Amino acid sequence: MTEKAVKKVSSCCSGDTPSDVQITDSEEKARKAIRGQYSSIASGKTQEMLEEKNELDSNKKKSPFYAEEELKNIPENANLGLGSGNPIALADVKEGETIVDLGSGAGIDCFLAANKTGTEGKVIGVDMTPEMIDLARENAFKSNYKNVEFRLGEIEHLPIANNTADLIISNCVINLGSSKEQVFREAYRVLKPGGRIIISDIMFAKSLPEKVSTAFKEMSGCVSRAVITEDYLDTIKRAGFTDVEIIDKYTIQRKEQKLTKKEQKGKQKVTLASDGNKIELELTHEEISCLNEAIISAHVRGVKPSNSYSTTVPLAKLVVY
Ligand SMILES: C[S@@+](CC[C@H](N)C(=O)[O-])C[C@H]1O[C@@H](n2cnc3c(N)ncnc32)[C@H](O)[C@@H]1O
Repeated sequence: MTEKAVKKVSSCCSGDTPSDVQITDSEEKARKAIRGQYSSIASGKTQEMLEEKNELDSNKKKSPFYAEEELKNIPENANLGLGSGNPIALADVKEGETIVDLGSGAGIDCFLAANKTGTEGKVIGVDMTPEMIDLARENAFKSNYKNVEFRLGEIEHLPIANNTADLIISNCVINLGSSKEQVFREAYRVLKPGGRIIISDIMFAKSLPEKVSTAFKEMSGCVSRAVITEDYLDTIKRAGFTDVEIIDKYTIQRKEQKLTKKEQKGKQKVTLASDGNKIELELTHEEISCLNEAIISAHVRGVKPSNSYSTTVPLAKLVVY
């Protein structure tokens, strides 16, 4: 099911619309699968996704996005290596700010945020996987963080009041949601007037070879649900955000074998992976090069206008798993 095919109750572009997307059966199934994967990771039952991430060879190596110094000052089990960037490093956090992390996982970015906002500030992590929430809470408890809390919930239905956050961050999660439109509308609702959003996510800098695009559509996960950069930015703008821009990006490249000239002319077997799902395809050298150039990780920023006060009724619901 593509995003476009998800029925929307309203197509208003104010970013302040009390509408909810209708979740289809296939979306519900995908969501259960995503939750199952992250539940296994949180409970230490699978290394598969972590290994898959290591297959992707970014141009920033080991602990690619975080400085050693940053990692030294957060709980040890908070970094599961699941992110695609470091939004807090670009957020210019001020002491006392209220920060919300969409899809907080084991809490890595929440703890980094908490160190910056200090005891007068507050950080709220939201995640739909109970085992991730448990792990994040354990991390906070063991390291005695008093300014961080973790709430079980979906980023499409944030369990957070209107106009309360100075900053919303998210790291490699929004692609996993059932509707980017609704996630950004919810982020807009929760931000204070003048508040900002800074997210990291996977996008396509250009169209993928058709074979690859079709294969990705059959999989679930963050790469398979990525869209062309312009479409991603337009979705954020449609939610009401202004000053929407990419502030940082890099190409994610697969580790490539060195090929002889003869091999370069023929087809090569390539494994496409997206959050534990794998499909093998035969691609030409040109198609592989295109694939390698297309997948990027980007940090995007947007602002809720300072004259916009949200009066929407929150969409938060009690989710029974
Ligand atoms: C790729 S991990 C990223 C975790 C964290 N941001 C990090 O950088 O380590 C994705 C996280 O988002 C959560 N997630 C996925 N879809 C979600 C949704 N629709 N609502 C809330 N959480 C979601 C998963 O449970 C998982 O913990």
